[in-house]
Amino acid sequence: MRQLTEAQKKRIEEILSRMTLEEKIGQMNQESPSIVGGFDVPFSELIEMLTDGRLSKEEFGKIMSTSQQDYHEDDIRAGRVGSLMVQDPAKVNELQKIAVEESRLGIPLIFGLDVIHGFKTVFPIAIAEAGTFDPDLMRKTARMAARESKAAGVSWHFAPMLDIARDARWGRVSEGPGEDPCLASAFATAKVTGLQEGESPDDPYVAACLKHYIGYGACESGRDYNTVNMAMHVFYNHYLKPFKAAVDTGAQTVMAAFNDLNGIPCTVNKFLLRDILKEKLGLPGFVVSDANAIRECINHGIAADDFDAGVQAALAGMDMDMGTGIYKNQLQKAVEEGKVPMEVIDEAARRILSVKMWLGLFDHPYVDEASMHQYDVLPQEHLDLALEAAERSIVLLKNEGDILPLAPSAKISVIGSLADQPEEVVGAWALSWRKEDCVSLWSGIQKEFANAKYFPCGGPEGGLNEEEITEAAAYGDVIVAVLGETIAMSGEASSRADITLPGKQRQILEKLLESGKPVVLVLMNGRPLALEWEDAHVPAIVEAWHLGIRMGDAVARVLCGKKNPEGRLSSSFPAMTGQCPVYYNHPNTGRPASKSKFTSRYLDAPLDSLYPFGYGLSYTSFDFSNLNVRDQGDVLMIGVEVKNTGERAGTTTAQLYTQDVAASLVRPVKELKRFAKVTLEAGEIMRVYFELPKNELGFFDNEGNYRLEEGLFRIYVGQNSRECLMAEIWEK
Ligand code: NOJ
Repeated sequence: MRQLTEAQKKRIEEILSRMTLEEKIGQMNQESPSIVGGFDVPFSELIEMLTDGRLSKEEFGKIMSTSQQDYHEDDIRAGRVGSLMVQDPAKVNELQKIAVEESRLGIPLIFGLDVIHGFKTVFPIAIAEAGTFDPDLMRKTARMAARESKAAGVSWHFAPMLDIARDARWGRVSEGPGEDPCLASAFATAKVTGLQEGESPDDPYVAACLKHYIGYGACESGRDYNTVNMAMHVFYNHYLKPFKAAVDTGAQTVMAAFNDLNGIPCTVNKFLLRDILKEKLGLPGFVVSDANAIRECINHGIAADDFDAGVQAALAGMDMDMGTGIYKNQLQKAVEEGKVPMEVIDEAARRILSVKMWLGLFDHPYVDEASMHQYDVLPQEHLDLALEAAERSIVLLKNEGDILPLAPSAKISVIGSLADQPEEVVGAWALSWRKEDCVSLWSGIQKEFANAKYFPCGGPEGGLNEEEITEAAAYGDVIVAVLGETIAMSGEASSRADITLPGKQRQILEKLLESGKPVVLVLMNGRPLALEWEDAHVPAIVEAWHLGIRMGDAVARVLCGKKNPEGRLSSSFPAMTGQCPVYYNHPNTGRPASKSKFTSRYLDAPLDSLYPFGYGLSYTSFDFSNLNVRDQGDVLMIGVEVKNTGERAGTTTAQLYTQDVAASLVRPVKELKRFAKVTLEAGEIMRVYFELPKNELGFFDNEGNYRLEEGLFRIYVGQNSRECLMAEIWEK
């Protein structure tokens, strides 16, 4: 991956040597446009309101077009701003011109934005896309997002989100790659490569910002922003892994998480920012706080006031302040009073300049305003990739009696208000899409099925319409019930204490099932749901997440069988909410859950998750056999035979897990180490091999030391984390 040249490094030092203290601190300050007059809400809050559904796209547009906004031009001119959140190319150029031509040193601004799962072309939410188990696809969608955003002047993505999450009550599970560190690391590498590396020298690239560092996904009780307590071996072996993979790939920047970790907010956590991230992992660029997070250290009860919070953050290694103005207003005094050494400021400014240099902003600060027009109508290649990513993310959870696929001539009643709302396909944290690009489920289904009819019946937010339910039940030979969550029910600040189908959707299903007609449940949602009842009563269930602009086409193609589902779960689904957090790679206890009473279990819930990590069905079936492990010295060669035992071609994901049976620390019952997609014709057999270096059988202890211990290891290979073949090896 692209590195700074010696000449560029020299140039940075030369610029630094000419900067005043105020200008250096200016680089450490990120602003977002604030709305002035009448509507006194900061832009970041507006964006959050838009994302969580408190504000419609139309209302947002109106506010933006009618209100007067403060883009901090005077501060930019005075060298007091290093970064801004803007996505309009003309505005980018206007502000950049002030920075480059009117500020004393002409240092360009870096424009950042939340581009989480696509820019104009919105792809599946991350929890869904991770379930493709296809790093190259993940790379390609990031690549496309980078090209599109760069055309708007946005060269810094607040992505990928790499929070391991085990508790589906947390709304932000939607934004990340699920519960497993190995899959999340593959996702991390793919995303950073896609964002930061073009396919040719003039292919645009952007800087990634890994977030949220760290442990945010482990917030207590799944409640957003809540406290995090975590054993250090869990930190090193699970939560840090995807961040390490991303930094190893060359990720330029990191955003610190809102939460505290073991008592110290990540924002002011020197151990996390300096010792681990910068020194151990070797982050080349800078760390930015999350929005308002430096000031929130006062709420955490760790800082007395703005000044104290700013001093603590700077000392801990927080290079850029997102949105509070604390650095801008307090750091100069802190340096003058000797509270913050000059080297701390120099280091932060150097890191920020280095990312700007790495992006080429010093030589090419402006964006070609016309270039965004190439996306006025989305190119076919973008539409195709959006469809591919969407359909490959779909997970078939249940298909009793092979109800699916449905014949194109089938008489289908499509129900559920979500089915007919194009804007509901994009999912949380999508900011730059256009409604006309979004394909709703109802519109996708009409393209594939000639005899489909739509009956709203009700949805996640409303009640139910008895009359429409009766009509729907009378019309179709089969009912496709599109139920789930609105996009506002997942994402930031959208934790739920009960993760069953919201509203009266269960009752809608009950009434439909009473008709005796077969029901296919298509789920649109941003988190694993607790589906014990649905699994027991509904014959076919399709997990369709929020799949982006081509969602309707993708779902329709799966329903009619043009696409054979191949997606897998990147997160375990609990049977009941009370099981949360539930995850496959849990440590063992002295009393593993079993049917006997005095074991680690609930009296009133199943022993395990409903659908485990890695799970997903196909319209064909696969058989795994003949697992064999060959010792090749430093490497284990693991082979397994995979056969397509059904009647059509299909794709499965072979998953390799290991277990350290007796170690000096309690280890997970299984850990994913490798995976491979296998596509086979009906009846075809293939032997799949995995090469696993033995040193990957080790683990980090509580002090962060990597240990490779001798003893018994189990090797599992299967189609999901539960159904596996097993072999044992003794390693010295
Ligand atoms: C808050 C969110 O936690 C973070 O993910 C996002 O990047 C920032 N706001 C900026 O919008």
